[in-house]
Amino acid sequence: MDKVELVYFDLTEGATGTIRLLEKYNINEFYNLAAQSFVDVSFDQPSHTNEINYIGVIKQLEAIRSVDKNIRFYQASSSEMYGKVMEIPQKETTPFYPRSPYAVSKLSAHWIVCNYRESHKLHASSGILFNHESPLRGEEFVTRKITDSLAQIKCRKLDTLRLGNLEALRDWGYAADYVKGMWMMLQQEKPDYYVLATGKTCSVREFCEKAASLLGYHLTWKGSKDQEIGIDTKTGKTIIKVDPKFYRPAEVDILCGDSSKAREVLGWSHTTDLDKLVEIMVEADIKRAEKT
Ligand code: GDD
Repeated sequence: MDKVELVYFDLTEGATGTIRLLEKYNINEFYNLAAQSFVDVSFDQPSHTNEINYIGVIKQLEAIRSVDKNIRFYQASSSEMYGKVMEIPQKETTPFYPRSPYAVSKLSAHWIVCNYRESHKLHASSGILFNHESPLRGEEFVTRKITDSLAQIKCRKLDTLRLGNLEALRDWGYAADYVKGMWMMLQQEKPDYYVLATGKTCSVREFCEKAASLLGYHLTWKGSKDQEIGIDTKTGKTIIKVDPKFYRPAEVDILCGDSSKAREVLGWSHTTDLDKLVEIMVEADIKRAEKT
């Protein structure tokens, strides 16, 4: 940790803020993971989302362009850009169809990075990362919400877990694998863009079942779509309830990525599968729930 220095930085400040930072620290690799990253929130805050996720990226690129064109830049593009998917699985050549202001802002940023690469010859790469999770994930996101809430239910600190769309399918991987992939992109001689994904997809419902089973529950589902409940068969207790307030105005039904290009060019592949990921997350959350 003594190798890491945290500094105050606001990417809406303007290119000058970034220029000062680049000059002071003599930076040679710049990873932009900053974002308004909540898809759901973006429907209510579209211009704020665009300001951070798109205009913020232009400011960073402009700063690099004026300080030193050799600074390597990584942009966190997102599988959300595929939205209403045009093919399964999605790869670098799949056409985009964003379904939220968040996805539109990420797609704009994706193209501006491509443009700076081609017009100003910046070493700017984008990773189209499919969902990547870990015990560090915020509880606003569904995987962590599930593992944290079920662990709390197990420790009798919460009654039920309320969720939105149980049918959404996501390609979930382990964040540590993906961070390595980001670094690998910037070690390439030529900048480019790559999909990082596991190639497997799983529904929110199945994720719940996997996490619940690790905690000793066996779920049975009852009721119609908007009022569905998940009952633990052993105790008869309802531990999950569908709550339509978590539905999104436009949903991304299925994401499943093909990272053949990253495998061939970068030598990247994921090391942790979904079952192991759920185990890591449940284990961390049960420890947290027992302590608090
Ligand atoms: N957050 C949340 N909360 N999602 C829920 C819930 C709930 O209670 N119930 C069901 N879902 C469904 C959502 O409707 C969505 O289809 C799916 O679970 C995943 O939602 P999130 O975990 O919020 O992630 P995301 O897929 O929308 O976006 C994440 O991954 C992207 C990469 O594909 C975020 O990290 C984005 O910033 C990232 O770009």
